[in-house]
Amino acid sequence: MDKRELVEKINKLKKEKNAIVLAHTYQNIEIDEVADFSGDSLFLSRQAAKTDADIIVFAGVYFMAETAKILSPEKTVLLPVLSAGCAMADKINVDQLRKFKSQHPNIPVVCYVNSTAAVKAESDICCTSANAVDVVKSLNVPEVLFVPDKHLGAYVESMLDGVKVITYPGFCPVHHEIAVSDIVKQKALYPNAKVMVHPECSDEVVKMADFTGSTTGIIKTVKESNDKEFIIVTEKGVVERLQRDCPNKKFVLINEKAVCNTMKLIRLEDILHVLQTGENEINIAKDIAQKAITAIDKMLKI
Ligand code: 13P
Ligand code: SF4
Repeated sequence: MDKRELVEKINKLKKEKNAIVLAHTYQNIEIDEVADFSGDSLFLSRQAAKTDADIIVFAGVYFMAETAKILSPEKTVLLPVLSAGCAMADKINVDQLRKFKSQHPNIPVVCYVNSTAAVKAESDICCTSANAVDVVKSLNVPEVLFVPDKHLGAYVESMLDGVKVITYPGFCPVHHEIAVSDIVKQKALYPNAKVMVHPECSDEVVKMADFTGSTTGIIKTVKESNDKEFIIVTEKGVVERLQRDCPNKKFVLINEKAVCNTMKLIRLEDILHVLQTGENEINIAKDIAQKAITAIDKMLKI
């Protein structure tokens, strides 16, 4: 089947079954052709919470589909490829979180949405890269525990006066491996380019940024900017979308390794397959879902 046929079939099935497709910015770009909403984790969570659709097909990684299911428990949530995991979410499990909490008792736990449902259930409030600073600020406390991303936690601390952010030593390998030398190299080639950095990068890299923000934050800022050249310091999907949407601007991916392989597992064929069969449904134990929703809801209210 060629791409046009796949897109037509998916769109027809979506109508018949009252389904929507949510697609993260790191997905293969062709997925946008069938997506009802594309964007960052926060934007997609909000869409999952308010949709009237009966079925949500989540083109993203496992924790995103889990979050959608927690927010819309009465809906069917399908993940086109079940093995699409997140290396950052895998860095902490419930036992590790309990140990971390026992080492730092009576301090609220802020949990990056890139985590399992079970870890969310043991946390006080969730955050995404788009709202992490506001979430921590909203707690109005001198200290928080932040899991699992040490880099996002450090970024939050750097943005708030007088709040100590105690971080768990997790990270996203895709962003963690981006080095200061990569930026120096690209800046030598494109001296006028603005450096746009995702806060999952290390603090040395974030310090070199002209702008730091979520994937949607980076895209929005680039679109509104009068600048013409940008070095994009996050996953390749952001560059592809910017090249598509802003043909008169120049975008440079920080390095060719900035690719999240699990995000790229999903193809149009997989979306068609789950829509046809209803396979790969996400289900979450009731007790975990009930506890996790509290942490996610608190975040969405901010
Ligand atoms: P955002 O969607 O918040 O930009 O985060 C990027 C990411 O790594 C998602 O896994
Ligand atoms: Fe997880 Fe990193 Fe991939 Fe995002 S880019 S899904 S944090 S491994």
